[in-house]
Amino acid sequence: MIIDSLRQEHRNIEKLLLVLEQELSVFDRGERPDYEVVRAVISYFEVYPDAYHHPQEDAVFKKLKARDPAAAANIGDLAAEHRSGAERLRRVAQVVESVLTDREVLRQTVDDIIRDFIVHERRHIAMEERDFFPAAVKALQPQDWAEIASTLTDQKDPLFSEIVEERFDAVRRHILRLEQEAEADRA
Ligand SMILES: [Fe+2]
Ligand SMILES: [Fe+2]
Repeated sequence: MIIDSLRQEHRNIEKLLLVLEQELSVFDRGERPDYEVVRAVISYFEVYPDAYHHPQEDAVFKKLKARDPAAAANIGDLAAEHRSGAERLRRVAQVVESVLTDREVLRQTVDDIIRDFIVHERRHIAMEERDFFPAAVKALQPQDWAEIASTLTDQKDPLFSEIVEERFDAVRRHILRLEQEAEADRA
């Protein structure tokens, strides 16, 4: 079911946010974080949500608007939230590159920008699970879910989409392994 897989994706996203937070705490205590890990997390967030997660949520939200406009209005502008998440991520990418190219950036500024991204992503996920998903489960009819599923698979060859999913899984596993190694080195 679409909502189950969206929830599962949130769990995956949370793991990467935790990795980023972990590296940020290394930075905050004045040590050098593992920038390979940091960059890999940023790259993941640059590709995955827009390629995969947001199109599904947007399709569900569109149906919710039709079935229960009041519930949809209560949730607000989901697309705008996704765009501002992407903007926050761009600031993260920029500030990390600034640090790596030895441009003068205040430690506090780096911390503020990365923390802002992590906090907003977590808040967004919490809102979706508290308000959006239950409202959709309540309002959408079986034919809505069937339509969403068929639109999503229409856009992509199902095999292609499976490959894409596996690819993202592999990237995530790779990042988590790198993080484990970084943590082991620091211990
Ligand atoms: Fe979302
Ligand atoms: Fe989401």
